[in-house]
Amino acid sequence: MTTLQLKDAGLLKTQAYVNGEWLGADNGNTFAVTNPSTGEVIAQVADLGAAETNRAIEAAETAMQSWRQKTAKERSAVLRKWHDLMLENQEDLAIIMTAEQGKILAESRGEVAYGASYAEWFAEEGKRVYGDVIPNTTADRRSVVIKQPIGVVAAVTPWNFPNAMITRKAAPALAVGCSVVLKPAAETPLSALALAELAERAGLPAGLFNVVTGINAPAIGEQLTGNPLVKKFSFTGSTPVGKQLMALCATTVKRTSMELGGNAPVLVFADADLDKAVAGAIGTKFRNAGQTCICANRILVEDSVYDAFVEKFTAKVSEFVLGDGFAEGTHIGPLITDKASAKVQDLVDDAVAKGAAVTVGGQVDALGENFYQPTVLANLSNDMRVSKEEIFGPVAPIFRFSDEAEAVKMANDTEFGLAAYMFTENMSRTWRVSEALEYGMVGVNEVAISSEMIPFGGVKESGQGREGSKYGLDDYLETKYICMGGI
Ligand code: SIN
Repeated sequence: MTTLQLKDAGLLKTQAYVNGEWLGADNGNTFAVTNPSTGEVIAQVADLGAAETNRAIEAAETAMQSWRQKTAKERSAVLRKWHDLMLENQEDLAIIMTAEQGKILAESRGEVAYGASYAEWFAEEGKRVYGDVIPNTTADRRSVVIKQPIGVVAAVTPWNFPNAMITRKAAPALAVGCSVVLKPAAETPLSALALAELAERAGLPAGLFNVVTGINAPAIGEQLTGNPLVKKFSFTGSTPVGKQLMALCATTVKRTSMELGGNAPVLVFADADLDKAVAGAIGTKFRNAGQTCICANRILVEDSVYDAFVEKFTAKVSEFVLGDGFAEGTHIGPLITDKASAKVQDLVDDAVAKGAAVTVGGQVDALGENFYQPTVLANLSNDMRVSKEEIFGPVAPIFRFSDEAEAVKMANDTEFGLAAYMFTENMSRTWRVSEALEYGMVGVNEVAISSEMIPFGGVKESGQGREGSKYGLDDYLETKYICMGGI
């Protein structure tokens, strides 16, 4: 077992956090959390199941009764403190994240700051939950609309962002008076548990933020989706799993938010600044080794600049250093598992068999099974699986288009609709294409589009609901109409 070198060893928790207590599983079972770079075990974590999950839900229901009575300002103070503690412990949280997720340390530091920003943002936004006074419908009536916390929130979060995907659900829920039962990904529970420790230190009362760790996702998920005390279910993950969870939530008519898969196109028009487009496409393709839902999945380049783009793009990618996320100078870390590498290899093999050219990379690296080489594919066609499937790895397929209409048609030819990007210096095209793209988010000459201040979310089978921004509170609130008569 590796020992992580933390300034504050108290942040490395291995028990689950339920009703303000650190607990093992009822049956004493644990599961191993491993470092994707080395395969070494970092920790053995409590492996909870259905019974413990239900106890967490009941504790959450009880705890929120007094939390919802507090003023928004009182709740805000706790969230603000949580934010401050995340930043004070940024380096330790980043070390834990790189150890369990594999992303390079610089990206982990960035994610901790990003995650903390949701706590700060919703600490403020929670104070701005307004209702309405509706004009009288008859002379003796008064009608008002108030907003109330929806109730216990169940959240299921992914391994690719072990911190920020939690805070962008938990912070708005807590800000408006809800409580949370969180099931973090089994690959990355340690970041979630460290967040629970910091929430406790910030003064969050017991039962409001529960972390149920475990590898039996169906058993835990069945309780989170089926227990009638849970009023809202929020999920970030794949589209197929999201669909199953939505169906399960339908049995008790829970409100759901789904942040699901993507197939992000990057449109590069001939009138773009090509160097800017190359840098941007690289930025969005290789973030977290290609393992984000908004990573470029297809790069679409106009005919007349295609060869120049591929050449410049390949030259830059050839300079990337693949390696352990802790090693100085590494640009790209490992994929989460060897299974993930094998899936990426399948996609590359399929493209090559159908005529794609590999201009750099194209294989699992000698560093180990989890390390996939940064790869560029040229001469793509729409019958290749990379045109339809989410790659979730460091492979950049570069397609060709002949005009704007074809580019938009290709971009929209997918069931997904999360993020799209375009590079152009033409203002009219910017508007036309932004409006025509069937996506929840569009970056124009910009790929770093995420922030706590913007509404993150997709259309079509990429999901429903928005996280972050002023809209990020809506999913945690019920709207109640009150009609007062006889006045
Ligand atoms: C994701 O991959 O789902 C999240 C990316 C982000 O928040 O920027």
